[in-house]
Amino acid sequence: MDSEIKLSVLFTREQIAAAVKRLAAEIRRDYLDKNPVLIAVLKGSFVFLADLVRQLNFPLQIEFAQLSSYGRGRESAGKGKIKVVQDVKTDIKGRHVLVVEDIIDTGLTAAFFLEHLRQKQPASLKLCSLTDKPSRTQVKINIDYLGLTVPDKFIVGYGIDWDERFRYLPDICAIEDGD
Ligand code: PRP
Repeated sequence: MDSEIKLSVLFTREQIAAAVKRLAAEIRRDYLDKNPVLIAVLKGSFVFLADLVRQLNFPLQIEFAQLSSYGRGRESAGKGKIKVVQDVKTDIKGRHVLVVEDIIDTGLTAAFFLEHLRQKQPASLKLCSLTDKPSRTQVKINIDYLGLTVPDKFIVGYGIDWDERFRYLPDICAIEDGD
């Protein structure tokens, strides 16, 4: 069960809320009159998205997409293995698009998805991620709006899972145990 895994709090809910508030202020300033399309990448971003949009509080559209990148373990699936499981269900041509991610790890997923969206010819395309793990970068991508930088530890909570577990935690925690 979940209680067998040793976790330590990396970012408290208060620290997360402060980061979300800061990001929302930046996004609000840039998109206030643009009726942007926010595309949240399922599943990990659902908690972040819910908090973020309530702080934005201006006209915008919310869409979802699902990509496959991680398998059942803690490692990325590797280059070339990313697939669109559920594509965006609206026409984004000519729209201002902001991708909302929970974590940029190797960067492979975001790089793949941004290129996928670019082919749909949005008016603009930017990336917002709650967290980034620079120690794991394989593909350098520009994160236009970044919340928190995380050390080289596997993190869970605030929507982020390990093997579908721990998404419910209100804080972001590091797994201290090995596999
Ligand atoms: C996570 C996260 C990113 C991706 C980042 O999703 O939401 O999409 O991994 O990893 P990368 O930078 O190494 O490509 P995951 O595949 O775990 O799915 P989930 O959001 O449904 O948990």
